[in-house]
Formats: sequence, C-alpha cells, structure tokens
Amino acid sequence: MDKKARLEVEGKSYDLPIIAGTEGERGIDIGNLRGETGLVTLDPAYKNTGSCTSSITFIDGEQGVLQHRGYPIEQLAEKATFLEVAYLLINGELPNRGQIEEWSTEIRYHTMLHEDVKRLFGAFPKDAHPMAVSSAVIAALSTFYPEDLDPLDERQARASADRLIAKFPTIVACAYKHSVGQPFLYPDNKLSYVENFLRMAFGTPCEEFEVDPVIAQAIDQLLILHADHEQNCSTSTVRLVGSSHVNLFGAISAAINALWGSRHGGANQAVIEMLETIDAEGLTAQQFVDRAKDRDDTSRLMGFGHRVYRNYDPRARVIKQAAGNVLDKLGVTSNLLEIAVELERIALQDDYFVSRRLFPNVDFYSGVIYRALGIPVNSFTVMFAMGRLPGWIAHWLELHQQGQAIGRPRQIYIGPTKRDVAPIDQR
Ligand code: SDX
Repeated sequence: MDKKARLEVEGKSYDLPIIAGTEGERGIDIGNLRGETGLVTLDPAYKNTGSCTSSITFIDGEQGVLQHRGYPIEQLAEKATFLEVAYLLINGELPNRGQIEEWSTEIRYHTMLHEDVKRLFGAFPKDAHPMAVSSAVIAALSTFYPEDLDPLDERQARASADRLIAKFPTIVACAYKHSVGQPFLYPDNKLSYVENFLRMAFGTPCEEFEVDPVIAQAIDQLLILHADHEQNCSTSTVRLVGSSHVNLFGAISAAINALWGSRHGGANQAVIEMLETIDAEGLTAQQFVDRAKDRDDTSRLMGFGHRVYRNYDPRARVIKQAAGNVLDKLGVTSNLLEIAVELERIALQDDYFVSRRLFPNVDFYSGVIYRALGIPVNSFTVMFAMGRLPGWIAHWLELHQQGQAIGRPRQIYIGPTKRDVAPIDQR
C-alpha cells in the first residue's frame, strides 16, 4: 500500500504521497498542495526541501556516508582515477578499459582552446581571481560553439560536456600563467589529464617539465573527492539555471560563481588564510576556537560545519590522511597542518562544536595539501571547481533526462499592501 502523510489545515485533512528513495530516504510530495489547499510551503535556504529525485549521489549525513552511483567514496578515491569517476557520474557505470580509453581519447582531442579564447585572458588584471576568470571564459565558450548549444539534443549536450571537461584544466592553467606573466603552453596530449594540467600550469616553453608522480596522484585523488555532492549550492545552481534551458556553458559559469563564496568552495582558500593568520599572529588554537564561538566576533572556524553532515565528512577523513602522506613523501613539514590538527582536536572536544555537531568538512584539510603541492592559494577554489565539473554536468544531463519544468520557487509576500501612486510633488 502506498504510504501517505496526513496534513490537517483548518479542520480539513489532506493526504500527501510519501516518496521513498532506494537508500531509505523519504520525502513528502507537496506538488499538489497549493492546488488543493491554496497553501505553499516555506523553507528559506532549503534546509528541509528536496528539489528533485536523483540517482547520482547518496549522502547519509548522520553516518558520514557518501556514495556515487552506489560506490563508496573511499573505494573510488583508492581504486579509480578522476576520469573514471567522471565517467561514472555522467554515464551511471564505471568504465571498462576500452570505454575509458575511448573517452580519454575524446577528451584529449578537445584540450586546446580556440586562439581567440586565449586573447580573453589578456583583458583581465594580473591579480584577477581565477574563479572570476574561469567563469567568464566558460560563459564565453558558448559563443565559439553555437552549433552545439541545444541542451535537449543528446549529441550536442555530450559534445559540450566533453569540451568542458577537456578545456577546464587548460583554462585554469592559462588564468595562472596570465597572473604570473608567463606564456601559455599548449596541451601535450601524451600526458594524463592531471599531468597535462600540471605541465600547462607550472611548465615553461624553455625547459622539459618533469611531472612528480606523487603530486599528480594526490591531485587526481583530490579531484575525485570533490567530484560530486548531490544538491549543494553550486549543483542546485546548475539545476535551477539549467532548468531555463540555457546551454551547458551558461549553467557551469553560474555554478562557478556559486562555488566561489566562502561558505561553499571558497572555504578552502579561507581555511588556509585562517591558518596563516593564526600562525602569523602567534595565536594558540584555543584562542582561535574561542573567537570562532564568540557571537560578537565575525571569525568562524572555516572548514568546519556542514548543512548535511552531522558527523565527520568522509572526504575530510581521506584528505587528512592524504595530507600527512603527501607531506611525508615530498619531505615537506607544515606548521599549518599542525595548527589544523590542533584546531580540530580542540573543537571536537568543545561543547559548542559538539552540541551543534560541527565536524571538519572537505575544505578543512584540502588547502594544506594544495599548498604543499605548490598550488597558489587563490587557485584552491578553482581546483575544487575542476573536480566538481563532472558532478555539475551529470546533474545537468539528469535534469534534462527527467524533463523537469523550470525551477521557480514561491514566496510569502511581506511588503506593503496595495496603495496608490501619489504625484511626485505630493510624496
Ligand atoms: C562545502 O552542501 C555541500 O554539500 C557543500 C560541500 C560540497 O561538496 O559541495 O560539501 C562543500 O561548501 C563545504 C562547506 C564549506 N564552508 C565552510 O567551511 C564555512 C564554515 N562553515 C559554515 O559557515 C557553515 O557550517 C555552513 C555554511 C557549511 C553550513 O551552514 P548551515 O547549515 O546554514 O549551518 P548554520 O550556519 O545555521 O550553523 C548552525 C550553528 C550556528 O550556531 P547557532 O546560531 O545555532 O548558535 O552552528 C554554528 C552557527 O553559527 N556554526 C559555526 C560554524 N558553522 C556553523 N560556528 C563556528 N564555526 C563554524 N564553522
């Protein structure tokens, strides 16, 4: 028998269907509520609102579980490559050897930027934030592929997706090269996805670039750990913007801006800046934790807390361990990692964080690794975006496969009631 929830409004009862997910999540379907009762639901910030059904990613925030298409994130991070995970998110299954070779060849084919796209970078100031640059360049890419912009045409949608995955590392590398005044490097398609990015970002035309396998593997794993996270702010942006039937480039450009904020992906930059401040000002971890708890102080423990996780973010666990391993392998010592570990230790024993169930999230340790790997601090968030790109694309494709209507929330109006416009000299 179909399960229903009963709602009583002013003495009348309404039965609302309960929708169950494959992992036991349940939601009340209120699609017909307004038609039947004249009422809307009110949930600012969507703290308790499911905006769609999805078969891409499952999170159990209470238990700290994250699975993509059923596969635990820990296994994917250990046993797959970033491109395999991207394939999984986009196509629903892990690729076999033949499938991933075919797709990697396709991606390699698209790594170059149109020479006119490269001229765009010169229009930005040297200190332009890479998130602003990549969002602008990706929006501009739509003007170069006018024949492939129809989101409802499967071939065109896939062509845009492949182009974006292929070109994103080139765009990030060009943004960095522009900021340091070095020439852009063409992709070298003999290299893997991450190796190619590292060479384009940190190589020069004058010398052979040796990719450090420790660095390449660590970045590949970080990209996997960021690849999707169901209906987070930037992915919800992709779905909302995409529901208007804008092309993929427009939707991804919007998502990059959503990710940029310090409450979302921008937190990885904010964490390292917080650790550097603690270090520079000679604060103890306890002193900073006390500031983060103080309502009269604007400091927050960046990289802590999460809308969905009321437990340790499983990605943070993997990244924390990887941070230690990578630093050991590179022979780097980091007092910032030591400060982060101490902040975590103190916060996880503090009643403020314990009672609110605030734990480290994906951004808490990622900056420490990025820094050790030589990624500039203002590029941390764009590294997050590079990882998140396949997730955004998978949700955009799913949105259109589901044939979802345009996203259009309701509101409860609380402004002035109807009044007449007085002539200007009577106001
Ligand atoms: C990401 O959604 C996703 O899936 C995102 C993400 C992904 O992969 O896409 O996981 C990536 O965005 C990770 C989050 C990165 N942001 C930060 O690390 C910034 C610091 N954290 C917060 O600002 C905050 O925890 C959020 C934005 C992450 C979550 O915000 P919520 O769910 O709206 O929670 P809240 O702000 O209402 O906090 C509840 C309470 C409040 O205290 P009270 O008013 O109840 O007294 O906890 C406090 C908050 O003040 N609190 C913090 C805190 N985070 C929450 N207090 C101090 N330091 C913090 N970091």
